[in-house]
Amino acid sequence: MSQTRVLDVEGLDVRIGRHHLLHDLTFTIDRGERVGLIGESGSGKSLTSLTLLGLLPEDARVDGSVRLAGVGADLASASERQWSRVRGGEVAMVFQEPMTALNPTMRVGDQLAEAITLHRDRSGAGTDRRAVRARVVELLDQVGLPDPADAARAYPHQLSGGQRQRVVVAIALANDPALLVCDEPTTALDVTVQARVLDLIVRGVAARDAAMLFITHDLAVVATVCERVLVMYGGRVVEAGPVQEVFRRPRHRYTEGLLAASDLDAVDAEGRLPTIRGSVPAAGAFPDGCVFRNRCAHATAECATAPPWTGPDPGDGYACHHPAGAGEEQR
Ligand SMILES: Nc1ncnc2c1ncn2[C@@H]1O[C@H](COP(=O)(O)OP(=O)(O)OP(=O)(O)O)[C@@H](O)[C@H]1O
Ligand SMILES: [Mg+2]
Repeated sequence: MSQTRVLDVEGLDVRIGRHHLLHDLTFTIDRGERVGLIGESGSGKSLTSLTLLGLLPEDARVDGSVRLAGVGADLASASERQWSRVRGGEVAMVFQEPMTALNPTMRVGDQLAEAITLHRDRSGAGTDRRAVRARVVELLDQVGLPDPADAARAYPHQLSGGQRQRVVVAIALANDPALLVCDEPTTALDVTVQARVLDLIVRGVAARDAAMLFITHDLAVVATVCERVLVMYGGRVVEAGPVQEVFRRPRHRYTEGLLAASDLDAVDAEGRLPTIRGSVPAAGAFPDGCVFRNRCAHATAECATAPPWTGPDPGDGYACHHPAGAGEEQR
């Protein structure tokens, strides 16, 4: 692994029960890099994030490799013991719903203190109670809680949704993770609070020169926050590349449809947005060959065979037999 590489995922397959849910995921994230992960509901985004945190259900089978800088073991086959050292340390996560991430019966300061002492080798705060306490207040201050010492004594239900998510962000950043995974971190929040929490996450990540994998349905957020984007459908990465290129000139017909469905300029005379026809099949019900072909207006007989990846590397390219823009001038 190169010095700047934080995450290296290769040929990752995840099966749960009889369902093969993630297929041959291959991607990397470098230090300081922010990568967006997009795709409709049921595409496999959350499963990808849970895999990176070792939070899949016990009966899940993981094949391929997941390497994280500074961790010797291949995390695809790591034990729960190994994961408990990595999780909250090298890699941390911000989930959509702060109430499920926090313990309702514990003061938020104690939850932060626990996160710090659990990874004391990273946090540098040691176990000295006063040093830990000072660090807790410092972290709550960093995430913009107006009275951090008071907030530390509060129980989660005594805080607003936005304040709770700030606490979750503080816990996630407490041990200076090399990689922060965010799964729709602001969608449960009031719109006026969303932008502030997002800004907080981005600044916290940048201050640590950490890498970020950012899952969202909001493509405008991806365009402003991320440098690169992975487009997922049917448990596969179907297109990847620099955000500006992919959004300006999508190649995979799925990406093209996804962008059109969120393009407010494309609203028709009746005020309707274009949509991708049909809906995402249930796990196990995707067609073979190109997984998107039963919903694609461009599909031909050729699409019954899986399209090969076209592009310079797994982080830049697409897998589509009939890509958009072929033969057209680049805008
Ligand atoms: N524990 C599980 N057991 C069986 N199938 C699962 C499990 N978890 C997820 N799945 C299936 O895997 C597929 C991908 O789910 P995932 O939660 O990753 O989607 P997502 O892209 O995060 O969607 P959303 O945008 O709605 O959050 C879905 O078909 C889902 O039903
Ligand atoms: Mg999800």
